[in-house]
Amino acid sequence: MRRFWALSFSLLMTWFAFASASEVIVIAHRGACGYLPEHTLEAYALAYGLGADFIEPDLVLTNDGVLIALHDTTLDSTTDVAEVFPDRAREDGRFYAIDFTLAEIKQLSVQERRGADGEPAFPSRFPQGAAAFEIATHAELIELVQGMNHTSGRNVGIYPELKAPSWHAEEGMPMEEILLAELSAYGYEGPDARVFVQSFEFESLERLRELGTELPLVMLIWSPDHATEEAFDRWATVANGVGPWKGLVEASPEVVGMAHERGMQVHPWTFRADVLPAKYPTIEQELMTYFGVYLVDGVFTDFVDDAVRVLRGMGLR
Ligand code: G3P
Ligand code: CA
Repeated sequence: MRRFWALSFSLLMTWFAFASASEVIVIAHRGACGYLPEHTLEAYALAYGLGADFIEPDLVLTNDGVLIALHDTTLDSTTDVAEVFPDRAREDGRFYAIDFTLAEIKQLSVQERRGADGEPAFPSRFPQGAAAFEIATHAELIELVQGMNHTSGRNVGIYPELKAPSWHAEEGMPMEEILLAELSAYGYEGPDARVFVQSFEFESLERLRELGTELPLVMLIWSPDHATEEAFDRWATVANGVGPWKGLVEASPEVVGMAHERGMQVHPWTFRADVLPAKYPTIEQELMTYFGVYLVDGVFTDFVDDAVRVLRGMGLR
């Protein structure tokens, strides 16, 4: 254990030199969803107040082509759609956001996420139905962030993820052009824009480049097959960074160097104080290891305050 921390300290010093020249970012995963229901404006505002550098909306489309903040293509796990529109499920019994207009979706109440058994997915989080929340549009998130940037003088960014873009295209609703048009309308253009666009689908990132965007793009990876030199050569043709499942970094820490060698940043997900891997007694120890030993450039976390506090403790805030 002592050797581990000695090695950690040495690597930490190396990292300080690197980090002093680049920003190590805290990304609010689904907003401050450790405290408030995910992807609500309230959760985004709290994430801003807790010190997030970027706020993450997952995005899907409504039937009338509006980007909304929702993790799933269906509304089942986080809203009361089954009570409000009981006849609108597909044959598989699921309620798809793409089958509803924005006006209909705005009638729904957002609740803390439920698991397949109907029970809260995170029991210690916000109580089910204890307050009213609604689904936010991507535009509403942007206006919130830009408004708070105006009042605070900060420059918090956004980190949108296109959810299931190939499925949306099969449904006749490609997402990429809609996203780029919306980002452009709010001033997010060019390689220095305060935005990262992320996707699990490499072809969607390729499509974004084909459409001419120079915005920073991030490829989300999770499989050992994604952790090879050949795979990184492929990601680097279009992406400015990778977003690895943190278990991939744990199993193959060399992915960080593989990314850095290609000029790409590394932003692993998802750090949760209430769901810790067995080897880390606290989220602080987990985050310290990722920042100081694995040398990542940022983290997605449900608990922005924890990540900000750790970075402050390391002298980086
Ligand atoms: O986008 C990074 C991370 O959020 C990926 O996982 O399922 O929470 O979107 P998910
Ligand atoms: Ca995401």
